[in-house]
Amino acid sequence: MNKDQKVLYSGMQATGNLTLGNYLGALKNWVGLADEYECYYGVMDLHSLTVRQKPAEFRAHARELMTIYIAAGIDPEKNVLYLQSSVPCHAELAWILNCFTYMGELQRMTQFKDKSARHADNVNAGLFTYPVLMASDILLYQADVVPVGKDQLQHLEITRDIAQRFNSIYGDVFTVPEPYVGKIGARVMSLQDPSKKMSKSDENPNASIYLMDDPDTIRRKCRRAITDSEATIAYRDEQPGLKNLFDIYCACTEKTPDEAVREFSGCGYGQVKEAVSEAVIGILKPLQDRVRELQKDRSYLDQVMKTNAERAHDTANRTLRKVKKKVGLTDIR
Ligand code: TRP
Repeated sequence: MNKDQKVLYSGMQATGNLTLGNYLGALKNWVGLADEYECYYGVMDLHSLTVRQKPAEFRAHARELMTIYIAAGIDPEKNVLYLQSSVPCHAELAWILNCFTYMGELQRMTQFKDKSARHADNVNAGLFTYPVLMASDILLYQADVVPVGKDQLQHLEITRDIAQRFNSIYGDVFTVPEPYVGKIGARVMSLQDPSKKMSKSDENPNASIYLMDDPDTIRRKCRRAITDSEATIAYRDEQPGLKNLFDIYCACTEKTPDEAVREFSGCGYGQVKEAVSEAVIGILKPLQDRVRELQKDRSYLDQVMKTNAERAHDTANRTLRKVKKKVGLTDIR
């Protein structure tokens, strides 16, 4: 790795099935960033424990997410791809940083408020300190930039606050990260309610296209997508369902909305939906084939997870040792 490069850090939770939104909005844009940055991508399995998981299924999901990263084209030699739980420094730094984070700050986090409303029967302390673990992920690698969606900006903001607070007491220990402002991915909305983001936790299975959906399922979901009764081809906020379909189409085909509108002028919505589903299948099918191919070779993935965890640990541990020394914990080595 080139030491002059800036560090980029991101990751996804290892829960549920990834959607087309996760792919077009994040993953697809991570490919190639390694030319410019030293990139770390985590499979955030510790974060997933804030919601009760079925152990076998959870373990399989974490592995699958790692496979999907690689299948999407993120090279595990040019990037560091690893399971968060395989680098114990995360949990360790999170404890220390808990002691530098205020209850009031955590109480203001909108995601905590949303999640505790949705899981009222399990408002655990992990859910509350989730942002501190996320800050630890980022700060351990001295990340300069973090590509995150709008919904995660508040988490990045608290990460910066924690880093600055720590630095103001102990000197420059952490790099204060910035949001990544490069080419950002498409914001894909629910197919059933275009005012909401497409989400892997949506209860309506028709709302989201999952990365591993087969072609017929993709066609059916696109056909059922909510549009409007205006029956005109346009790309505008007043027709949010159609706009979302065009956004998906453009993200898959690299066309601009203007080009798409011209291409479909005079067509019915049915034809648009059909073209959208074929464009989606066109990019998901090769990805799915690569995932299946990789899944056949367990030892390859085992080896990738092991060597990458070691690479991640080397970087993370350097920061953690510095932090422990600064706060006055004893280093017995
Ligand atoms: N909270 C992020 C999400 O749900 C996942 C995440 C955990 C993350 N740690 C991170 C993202 C660090 C970026 C950097 O999307």
